[in-house]
Amino acid sequence: MELAEAMRTSGAVRAYTGTPVPDEVLARVLDNARFAPSGGNTQPWTVLVVRDQALRTQLRDLVQQGWREYAAQVRAGVRPFAPSEDGRWHGPVVDLAAAAETPAPNPFVDTIDQAPVLLVLVARLTALAVMDVDAGRQSIVGGASIYPFAQNVLLAARAEGLGAVLTTFLARRAARAEELLRVPPGHAIAAVIVLGYPAKRATRLRREPVSAFTRFDTFDGPAFEVPPAG
Ligand SMILES: Cc1cc2nc3c(=O)[nH]c(=O)nc-3n(C[C@H](O)[C@H](O)[C@H](O)COP(=O)(O)O)c2cc1C
Repeated sequence: MELAEAMRTSGAVRAYTGTPVPDEVLARVLDNARFAPSGGNTQPWTVLVVRDQALRTQLRDLVQQGWREYAAQVRAGVRPFAPSEDGRWHGPVVDLAAAAETPAPNPFVDTIDQAPVLLVLVARLTALAVMDVDAGRQSIVGGASIYPFAQNVLLAARAEGLGAVLTTFLARRAARAEELLRVPPGHAIAAVIVLGYPAKRATRLRREPVSAFTRFDTFDGPAFEVPPAG
């Protein structure tokens, strides 16, 4: 598949056919994804291919709790877990403990334990070059050595005809998940990536045009207008 087409059609896929993903296909996905960049080329990723059903079920329960916390904030009309303008999070506007106990049906989350492939992406914290570590606000750079790898997995999956989605709901119960998965100290779960052959695929992704997010020189500079083709 052509790279541009893969990039333009790798939408989130949350429903899969029952067709299993052969190990050779998953191996190719990871073999291509490993060429991702990372600060200092530390390649701080470990991928857990979770197959054990008991583990999957426990992870699903934890993901559900994260989703419920997220959903409660959406219902309350706020952007879930978003920092304020000072770049810090000032606590929830909803009761998170109550939210985690309140069922919020979600076909993807509720069946994540049955997903054809469940990957947990773990980052080695001591390998990260967190250049904004002392900025006094939410770090952005901290994730920059791990998420290009995650995006490569999504693109490589697309090229294999798979559908995928990255989810961070598990981060809300990371400590428990890391215990279950025997993630050693100095490491953290960065994401869960779910893969499978898509039950359906979006034909057109909704994304802002280049001129909406590209400026000349300064943030308030003139928009970069895409020249007409040809
Ligand atoms: C950092 C990150 C976290 C995400 N977390 C979740 C998630 O927890 N659950 C989920 O269903 N999708 C998750 N997604 C997928 C986004 O919802 C998806 O990329 C976005 O809505 C665009 O959807 P589309 O590609 O179908 O147009 C996440 C994506 C990213 C990049």
